[in-house]
Amino acid sequence: MPLNDTQSEYQALKEELHFHNYRYHVLNDPVISDYEFDQKLKHLKAIEEAHPEWVTPDSPSQRAGAPPLAQFLKVEHPAPILSLGNAFGETDLREWHARIARLDDRVEDADFTVEPKLDGLTVVLHYHNGTFVQGATRGNGEVGEDITENLRTIKALPLHIPISVDGPPVPEVLVVRGEALITKADFEALNQRLEEVGGKTYLNPRNTAAGSLRQLDSRITAQRPLTLLVYAIVHHEGGEIPTTQWETLVYLRALGFPVADASTLCSTLDQAIALCLETDPEAFPFEIDGMVIKLNDLALADDLGVVGKDPRGAIAYKFPAQEVTTLLRDIGVNVGRTGVITPYAILEPVEIGGVVVKQATLHNFDFIHDKDIRIGDRVLVKRAGEVIPYIIGPIEDVRTGAEQSYTPPTNCPSCGEPIINPVGEVAYYCTNSACPAQLVRNLEHFVSRGAMDIVGLGINIVNQLVQEGLAHDIADLYHLEPSHLLALEGFAEKKAENLVSAIQTTKTQPLWRLIVGLGIHGVGEVAAQTLAERYHDLDALSRASQEEIESIEGFGPNIAESILQWFNNEENQAVLGKLKASGVWPSAERRGETGPQPLEGLTFVITGTLPTLSRSEAKTLIESHGGKVTGGVSGGTDYLLLGENPGSKLGQAQKRGVPTLSEEDLRQLIKDRSA
Ligand code: IVH
Repeated sequence: MPLNDTQSEYQALKEELHFHNYRYHVLNDPVISDYEFDQKLKHLKAIEEAHPEWVTPDSPSQRAGAPPLAQFLKVEHPAPILSLGNAFGETDLREWHARIARLDDRVEDADFTVEPKLDGLTVVLHYHNGTFVQGATRGNGEVGEDITENLRTIKALPLHIPISVDGPPVPEVLVVRGEALITKADFEALNQRLEEVGGKTYLNPRNTAAGSLRQLDSRITAQRPLTLLVYAIVHHEGGEIPTTQWETLVYLRALGFPVADASTLCSTLDQAIALCLETDPEAFPFEIDGMVIKLNDLALADDLGVVGKDPRGAIAYKFPAQEVTTLLRDIGVNVGRTGVITPYAILEPVEIGGVVVKQATLHNFDFIHDKDIRIGDRVLVKRAGEVIPYIIGPIEDVRTGAEQSYTPPTNCPSCGEPIINPVGEVAYYCTNSACPAQLVRNLEHFVSRGAMDIVGLGINIVNQLVQEGLAHDIADLYHLEPSHLLALEGFAEKKAENLVSAIQTTKTQPLWRLIVGLGIHGVGEVAAQTLAERYHDLDALSRASQEEIESIEGFGPNIAESILQWFNNEENQAVLGKLKASGVWPSAERRGETGPQPLEGLTFVITGTLPTLSRSEAKTLIESHGGKVTGGVSGGTDYLLLGENPGSKLGQAQKRGVPTLSEEDLRQLIKDRSA
């Protein structure tokens, strides 16, 4: 097709493409389809091929990257690219305000902007007569590196301002500052694509954005999902620019720059602080590491000057860190209840969000291999919310060569028996079912709150019971006598008697708790309750067929198979025999026969320090036997459980004539009422 477009038609097409690019990448609100855009871009490129002399650096065709550079040139910034002072809480923010209010009276009545503190890479963008001509990194704040070609590939960066003909006038020279970044969603998608093709994944959006902009070959940068947000004018020549920070944001947005939506004008410090404290970084589509409070009056901010590289007129409120780097000292392994061996990181202790972290999960052995994690590496560790801290990956750039590759152990660290890694599985297993580490986990699970709930039997005691050979399986717990326990650390007669009695009282726990306690793979509380409703006791359950279990609502073939396997195992059969012989054999009927739980209908109040139980353990003991615990003595209180140094509740109980019980009396009461 012959091209007979005029230069003005070419110009109009360029503007149209800029506009659609802006709708898509800045406003996230496109008005044409990707296909239509591509067609228009194709047309533009065809015109440019016919008229290479028309092409300018701000053409929409110039975003694909240019031939590689030999090195980055230096760029002197027109004004210092300052940093920000940090505040880690409300006190720091108020101190900052008090400090600057002492320097200048105007601060007292000043208003502020509060903006997200973007966790990206600072960029300085130069526009001459509205055309993007140069872009630089921050460097040392005075001189940065020329990354113009890389920045040109960022679609959210306007190559020409203002974006629309009715936009505000632009000074001859305008230099703006912002952050280049990658959104969380784009980062996830990028890593997923890499994973699919077996490539190496990236650590986090920030490092990926920084790495992408440091490419000498901008065609690589063009492949990365970088975006941009701007927040300041560094310098201008000719024309006029706003005098407040808020108007600056409005102005930059009107020119066609991407500006963070979540920026707020606050008329008081209290309002600004409240906003900082209540902002949830998780709610943002990109990573932010804090909020920035800035004096709105730019002349006032300027007059206040700088301390070192930090302007006095602004401060960064930093969220508690979630990700930090530290030294990976070693890799340890855990043996789980089912013999699964999992690796964990032993770290140089490091504070993350107010908690000292010494260990973190490494997920599984494949993860260590895939990420090429080596002992001695600096690693990136994340701790967010309630999840266990985990390793994201190594910082390969700071390797010294002394780091050591890791090979998974071939023998169980607990019992020394061989470890196997079944073909096609991620998991590694210890093959020894009598492995003490497995036994410890099994017992721990059996006595836990969600299973048999044996009050006062913690991991420490479980460890000792296994070490001393007092428990070889869960059934052995019911053969323990006070004299056995006296050999353990911290046990005197009373404590030994109490623990034995606590264990014995769990013989009457409902069937579902025993089923949970067996530790059948895939059978948690909900499944156990369903099974207990359906099967009269463990004998009945052990006779169930695969099809029968599969026919139960919510039970699939995997869980049915796992139940059958458990009951078909000879060692498990032996344990069941021992449990039955010891009278640990709850049944649906028996529950009915014995009627209500021993403490059913009784309400207790607890005060003072009890000899062996913590308050929450005492509460659990009462509740697991059907009783109720309330916070204060009232007409409905049946007993006051009384320890040493009681509080005012004792007086209240005496006034009302409520009888008191010692911890021992309580155990006796449970026994008497269970009989
Ligand atoms: S204002 C005088 N505003 O955080 C202006 N900086 O830790 C000083 N940053 O070097 C900077 N988001 O690169 C400002 N909304 C924001 C920001 C922001 C991120 C960066 C900036 C600065 C660093 C300081």
